[in-house]
This record gives sequence, structure tokens and C-alpha cells, in this order.
Amino acid sequence: MKRFCNVLCCLLAAILFALPLGVSARAADCGAKLLAITYDDGPGKDTGYLLDELAARGVKATFFVNGENASYYPEILKRIVDEGHQLANHTYHHKNLNTLSSGSISSEISSVQTLITAAGGSDTAYIRPPYGNANSTVKAAATAPLISWSVDPLDWKYRNRDTVCKNIINGSYDGAIILVHDIHQTSVYGSLDAIDQLLDAGYEFVTVEELLLRRGITPQPGTIYYDAKNKGVNLSAEEISPEYYDESKLTEHWGYDAMQLCLERGYLQYGMNGEWYPNHCVTRGEFAMALGKFCGVFGAYQSPVGNPFSDVAELDERTPYILWINDSSLMCGYDSRFRPDDNITREEIATVLARYLLMTGRTSAAGDEALSLYSDRENISDWAREGVATCTDCGILQGGATGFLPKDNLTRAQTAAILQRLANR
Ligand code: NI
Repeated sequence: MKRFCNVLCCLLAAILFALPLGVSARAADCGAKLLAITYDDGPGKDTGYLLDELAARGVKATFFVNGENASYYPEILKRIVDEGHQLANHTYHHKNLNTLSSGSISSEISSVQTLITAAGGSDTAYIRPPYGNANSTVKAAATAPLISWSVDPLDWKYRNRDTVCKNIINGSYDGAIILVHDIHQTSVYGSLDAIDQLLDAGYEFVTVEELLLRRGITPQPGTIYYDAKNKGVNLSAEEISPEYYDESKLTEHWGYDAMQLCLERGYLQYGMNGEWYPNHCVTRGEFAMALGKFCGVFGAYQSPVGNPFSDVAELDERTPYILWINDSSLMCGYDSRFRPDDNITREEIATVLARYLLMTGRTSAAGDEALSLYSDRENISDWAREGVATCTDCGILQGGATGFLPKDNLTRAQTAAILQRLANR
């Protein structure tokens, strides 16, 4: 314990600084479970491999290509068409179309349409506006149907093959449109794993065009389609993702002040386009980085013992903070894995924060009696009881009307509120 404290003190000291729609097609569909998987932003270096693997499974997909990438891979575009997939339009520069003039929107779309036509694809290729953003100007400028999605595995965020696979499988249902990005190798592998399991479960993979056709939906230019339920246009944004939040209303969010503090100080990161994502869950890696930055750890941190984790990459911006939090014994891994992409649970956060508060002498450990106000206290893991009690006792974490909910995750706004409370201690 003494040696451990010395190491800790050193560390803490060091860081202070195409079927036609007809009766036969409809009848043939009885009982069929259909899915449309869509690949965005490519082609990329792994798209050729992906096409090989889709062909081996007899699976048809839809590729919403980015113009800048598509211009580098004309032979891949031809393969997409020749092998029976649907080649579709994700605009040339991947801009937020809601911010562009009607003329600029048309040119973003038509420049990719030219590449699609040259590859032998449809002359009115379906369009997916970047970020799903399509205001009335975008809808009016669109010369083809606009295709959104109903299953979002957040593959760009997790970059983990198993997580991508699990999220696709958990979200899938008959008629769903699945969003993945073939520019990430983890998404290519994870989606193929999911396809194998969903094929085994009796699903059939078809292009978006065929999905809509077989469900009797005749897509119209300028209309957004999310899936093939009802008329395909009824899904609200909230139904697409429980993490969704209308960012135009950020100032009304209960966690606005805390999030502003944490984003400005760099404890939390903005999204690629400045999004706050207040309702997104926080991963273990993201939390390690937030607490590390809060404690003044630098991105140049080097572990004296190296990287013991098989699932923590050297070139990941979270890595220095993950190694620091492990070296500090504030948060540890499981065998040789840190599980950086898993969402952190409330009891995990309580344990880490209690260790931090005790190590820095800001509080003393509380006993089990502090848990008496939680109706679900029996659900708290044994290893987490002291942490939850300590954080409860000093007011850093609180439960709600339904208890402490130890296995629940924390959103970015909730994490920001905790860091704000820590900062004020
Ligand atoms: Ni995109």
C-alpha cells in the first residue's frame, strides 16, 4: 500500500501540470424478413475486400459514395454496379447541405451523379444527405429520393469490430435500413460478422431500392425514407437513436452550463461538426480521457510500464489517458483488455471517483449505511459498494426516484455535471 501510494503521489504530482411492383412480387414477400445495409463515405481501401465478401454471401448492399473518394476508385464504382449492388449519392464534399444555397446543393449532388452514370449506375441515383440533414431547400433541390436510416450502430465512434456487429444485430428488424461506413476497417469486418448472424436468423439482404419496392413503397424525389415500415417516412429522429438531441435547443438542455465548461476546457470533445451530443453515452476510454484532462494529464504522457492492453491502440488519442488512469490505479482493465469502447456504468464511475477523492484527500470512505436510501442497493456489485457509498455520502453522485441504477450508463451531459461538481469541491 505504501509503495502504491508513493507511485500514485508521484503520478499525481507529475500531472498537476429491381423487381417491378406487381402481385407476384408482393406475394413472394410473404414472411420474408428484409434488411438493407448501406455503406457510406467510401469507397475506401477495404471496399474491394467488402465486395468480395458480400459476393461470397450473395448479399446485396447499397453504397452511398462520397464524390472525393469515388473519383479515386472508378473501378470500384463499376464493380458495385456490375455485382448487383445499388450505387448511390452521398454528395461530393460531404458538407452539411442545410447550410448551402440551392445552387450549391445541386452541384454537390450532380457532380457525384456524373460519376455514378459513368460507372453504369442509375441516372437518378438515390441520395443520402450528409448527417441526414435535409431542410426544405435540400428537399426541393433533390432530384431523387432521400434515404436516411433506422439502425445506427455508431460504427464511426466505436471503431470496434465486436461493438459494430453487436449494435447492428441489436438494432435490426424487418424493413430496417442499416447505416455503416466502409472507410473504417472495423466497420467492414463488424458488418460482415453481423450479416452472417442475421442471415442465419433468416434475414434477406437487399438494396434500398428493392426493399422499398418489395414493401409497396414508390419513393418520390425530395422525400426522406427511413425504413420500409408503413410508408417508410414515419420514423421520428428520436426513434432512430435514443441518443438523439436537437442541438438547436442546446441552451434549454439541463446540462448546458456543465457541458459548456467541459467542452471549453477540453475535458469532453466536440463532434466532427461541433456537435455537443449531450445524450450520447460515455465510453470507458472517453471517461479516462475526460478525467485525465481534468487532472491535468498531457497527451504526451508516457507510461513507465508500457501498454498492457491488447485493445488499446498506440495511435489512439485516448491512449495516454487510459495508460495514466491504469498506472494511477484509479481505473483498471480486465485481464489484458481495457474495453475502451464499452459504455461506462454508474457503479464503475462511482468506483473511479471515490478512489480519486480518497487519494487526493478530499473525502473519507463511507460505509454501507450510505446506500440505505437506494431501493436497488442489492443490485450494486460488491466491488462497487464502497465507491457508490463514498460518492453518495459526499454528494458527487446521486440516485434518482428509482434507485441508484448501478448498471445504467452515463450520458455526456451527466458526466459533465459530475466533473463540474468535482471542479467546485
Ligand atoms: Ni457520411
